[in-house]
Amino acid sequence: MNHNYIIPNKWSIIEEGFDAERVTASESLFSIGNGAMGQRANFEEAYSGDTLQGSYIGGIYYPDKTRVGWWKNGYPEYFAKVLNAPNWIGIAIKIDGQELDLNTCKVIAFYRELNMKKAWLKRSFIVELSNARQVKVESLRFLSFSLTEVGVIKYSIKALNFSGMLEIAPYIDAGIVNEDSNYDEFFWKVLDLSENDNGASILSETLKTKFQVCTGMKNVFHLNGKKINPTKKSTKSEKYIAHHYQIDLAKDDKVTLYKYAGYVQSMNHPKKDLCSVSHDVLSKAVAIGFAGLLKQQKQDWEKIWATSDILIKGDLKAQQAIRFNIFQLNQTYTGKDARLNIGPKGFTGEKYGGSTYWDTEAYCIPFYLSTKDKQVAKNLLLYRYNQLDKAIENAKKLGFTKGAALYPMVTMNGEESHNEWEITFEEIHRNGAMIYAIYNYVNYTGDYNYILEYGMEVIIAVARFWSQRATFSNFKNQYMILGVTGPNEYENNVNNNWYTNYIAKWCLHYAVENMQRIGLEYPTDYKRISHKTNFKESEISDWQSIANRMYFPHSESMGIFMQQDGFLDKEIIPVKELPDSERPINQKWSWDRILRSCYIKQADVLQGMYFFEDHFSDLKLKNHFEYYEPLTVHESSLSPCVHSILASKLNMDEKAYEMYLRTARLDLDDYNDEVHEGCHITSMAGTWLSVVQGFGGMRNFNNKLSFNPSIPAEWKSYSFKINYRDAIIQVYKSHKETIYTNLSDKPLTFFANNRRLVLAQKGLISLK
Ligand code: BGC
Repeated sequence: MNHNYIIPNKWSIIEEGFDAERVTASESLFSIGNGAMGQRANFEEAYSGDTLQGSYIGGIYYPDKTRVGWWKNGYPEYFAKVLNAPNWIGIAIKIDGQELDLNTCKVIAFYRELNMKKAWLKRSFIVELSNARQVKVESLRFLSFSLTEVGVIKYSIKALNFSGMLEIAPYIDAGIVNEDSNYDEFFWKVLDLSENDNGASILSETLKTKFQVCTGMKNVFHLNGKKINPTKKSTKSEKYIAHHYQIDLAKDDKVTLYKYAGYVQSMNHPKKDLCSVSHDVLSKAVAIGFAGLLKQQKQDWEKIWATSDILIKGDLKAQQAIRFNIFQLNQTYTGKDARLNIGPKGFTGEKYGGSTYWDTEAYCIPFYLSTKDKQVAKNLLLYRYNQLDKAIENAKKLGFTKGAALYPMVTMNGEESHNEWEITFEEIHRNGAMIYAIYNYVNYTGDYNYILEYGMEVIIAVARFWSQRATFSNFKNQYMILGVTGPNEYENNVNNNWYTNYIAKWCLHYAVENMQRIGLEYPTDYKRISHKTNFKESEISDWQSIANRMYFPHSESMGIFMQQDGFLDKEIIPVKELPDSERPINQKWSWDRILRSCYIKQADVLQGMYFFEDHFSDLKLKNHFEYYEPLTVHESSLSPCVHSILASKLNMDEKAYEMYLRTARLDLDDYNDEVHEGCHITSMAGTWLSVVQGFGGMRNFNNKLSFNPSIPAEWKSYSFKINYRDAIIQVYKSHKETIYTNLSDKPLTFFANNRRLVLAQKGLISLK
């Protein structure tokens, strides 16, 4: 219903014309964020139509009581969710007594733009109210990247065909709820409301977790470009403060309100200071002024784009889509704070509770590694390092001992908060992704110190988990991992999911390899780590023998690994033979039918082949791709990107492009009719991967950087940049040539289509 209304544009997401049916979808798509906070593109003025109000603060969550049918031992007590935070954007408007509400007045023109280059959201519209008054409204809003506790709105109203009374009331409102609240509870308690001349603030506290937030506003008015000080009247209720102003408008008069607002919160300041800090921060913002903050915003984003932009020539929609993905990722996570992470919906909706999943390690880390300073990806790793104690506690609750760690499937603070047994207890492959991310980081940056200072402790704890979770089969004389859910969540409680067994084996080897290396090369660290983790030499041989004797389901006759034991006993019918009317199967079929079917939700065996591509020959990869992809329904947003990358690798260009389109415009074209719930932020990293690792063929195995670029027939050229060990490399690919440019002063050795090349500082190599 909401497909294809976004107007193609290089740098902006644009919507023209008003359609109430599209409001919630656009609220997601036009979301803005600055890493510290983010919000859906809700209207400032009243809106009585269908809307999902959403404004979120990084790190502020509530442990909502779980809602499960039948309690099982080991389930977590709660489901952590990022809270919908007090509304600071609100501006109530009346014209000669009539409320401005796009749902009830006649909308003559409507334009909305999210400018990704400069990171602002604009709306402009002309409406006629039921009293025949016509007004033109323009609003420009952004969340400052330099003052991350501040958001600013410039909101103008022009009287088009009348002289009359404008009543304008900027407000802040802490009376908000979460749509996904399990028991319709209120999550906030208001502690204090206060006011000063042109401003106000509300101090509120989350129940149970006791985070405190001061939501503040300061308002400045102009009439026809000149500052005015209209008389204020305020109304207050228990959770709400509004400042009302009445301004006489002559025809063509234009009133502009500059609303400076935002959140100051207790993760960053002492609780007792929150309101005074809020006052200071907003006063500073007022002193810099709207134009000054906007200029700064543009400069901040120039820096972001300088290292992360991807340029695509010859396909405007593809250009818009890739920038949208890069933009949203940068709005969600800036890497300044190791306590924050990337929820699957970022700041664009409530689904998934805003919590951290394995998506971060499996998909997002490579994006941040290549487009930012290494500290950003390091902070994502530190997030898990800092939660290691909780992961050990979590494993202990499930019966594991001796410092084994099981990282949660979903978390805000390190504790598991997912509670479906088949996922909480069984989707344990996530533990492997934690280690894979460490490997990825160290391999990419060369920063082995990370392993010494932090990583090894995590690697040991996860190796202990796998060594206890694997069980020995006397019958097969090999180790099994029983009762799991692989990345393909359309199979539960299976035995020997190939991906899980493979990553477990790899983790055990990686633990052995690193512990042995540290023993030889860094004896002091070896001692310290051994002491801290209570490590015993004998663990090495245990890990080795389990890894060496791990079982992998395999079909000799077909020459492929089976997704799990018994996979071949299923009725194998390719997805293309399923009628459209039965898809997506997760909406059309019973869960029972899904579980018995051969259909694969997202890359599973192929996820492993993607992670460990260097362990397999091209022929093996091809055989597995050709077997599993036709059975894959891609009903997770994380699915198409992995398939696109593998298809590029295998020179299956059409497939690679088909899968790329599915990931790149998933939200903009709302393929799955669900964008109203929020955007798929973590899979956006997958879109970036599809260009850089897929078409660009970038790989970084064993300390070797390589490219093998191809280009979709539909494009004229594309280029991307990566930051590799402090060298900034630009790769340009057209149908005629490939150009590698070193934009930095650091020379770089790399491989292009298997040729070793040395790129001098500021050097350029062109290959035909
Ligand atoms: C996927 C998981 C993913 C989660 C959050 C699920 O649909 O199957 O792999 O972690 O969404 O993105």
